[in-house]
Amino acid sequence: MERELSLEFVRVTEAAALASGRLMGRGDKEAADQAAVDAMRSVFDTVNIDGTVVIGEGEMDEAPMLYIGERVGGGTEPCVDIAVDPLEGTNLVAKGLPNALAVVAIANRGCFLHAPDMYMDKIAVGPKARGCIDLDASIAENLGRVAEALKKDVRDVTAIVLDRERHQHIIEDTRKAGARVKLISDGDVSAAIAAALENTGVDILFGIGGAPEGVIAAAAIKILGGEMQARLAPEDEDDLERIRVMGIEDAGKLFQLEDLVSGNDIFFAATGITDGDMLKGVRYRGKTAETHSLIMRGITGTIRNIYATHTLDKKPRFIADPPANRRP
Ligand code: FBP
Repeated sequence: MERELSLEFVRVTEAAALASGRLMGRGDKEAADQAAVDAMRSVFDTVNIDGTVVIGEGEMDEAPMLYIGERVGGGTEPCVDIAVDPLEGTNLVAKGLPNALAVVAIANRGCFLHAPDMYMDKIAVGPKARGCIDLDASIAENLGRVAEALKKDVRDVTAIVLDRERHQHIIEDTRKAGARVKLISDGDVSAAIAAALENTGVDILFGIGGAPEGVIAAAAIKILGGEMQARLAPEDEDDLERIRVMGIEDAGKLFQLEDLVSGNDIFFAATGITDGDMLKGVRYRGKTAETHSLIMRGITGTIRNIYATHTLDKKPRFIADPPANRRP
């Protein structure tokens, strides 16, 4: 994929963030998500790619836009696969909490794991701790190895974990090992990226979150040179059937980073919707709005922060003023 596509993918996440950010704090996560989906879907068609959504808003019968298998883009090539989360952290936007993102990852055909929409158990670290993690090892063992790799005491290692009942044992084991825990209410894509970036104050991600989010996070971690391992966490027979339908033969397979996203010709773009550890949220200033985005390219490993000022009356209305934002 040509490097010029970088800016095109940022335009896609900017549009989703601008539209969805309007609904921050309104307590309506569906409306915020819808605004992000509409904007992202429309802007994708201005990008010169022949894209197929492989991680999206759901199956065709449950999502009218950005559904799995949908073709997007306005070009005939390159033929690419697309993983999207127009609004990662619907509750975060609804409640005005930090770290909501609009995010896309793009890779060549067949390079993303076609993960069904279910839970996935994940562990992720940055480049310095690559080669030290094992999803099947104990929490204490992983923390010990990461501490050694980062050349610090285990008491200075911070694990980021979704605050869920199902993670009680992870939280207890982390504390027992003497490490620090940062609990988050939602948003394990930004959490995984924080674990892979330096100077975020977070060293390792543990726990179960969405499988689609896992694949998207893996794209960023791959580009950043970190490591991630994952395993699907089906809850019932239906989930097992969906795994089979997706063509995954071994439901209990331990996925390495290369299984989640193969190759290096990958782009990852994210725009902050609410303020977060990596990205600022959208600022609306009357006639203009400001966004902060990150675009990373796998081939070169370049990471760019892009600050943009948007003139709102020159934007399509579904971006500048989505329907749910309009006064009756
Ligand atoms: P949404 O954006 O779909 O609301 O997902 C937010 C999220 O926190 C993800 O980041 C995470 O992977 C998943 O939900 C965790 O699921 P659950 O809330 O069921 O524990």
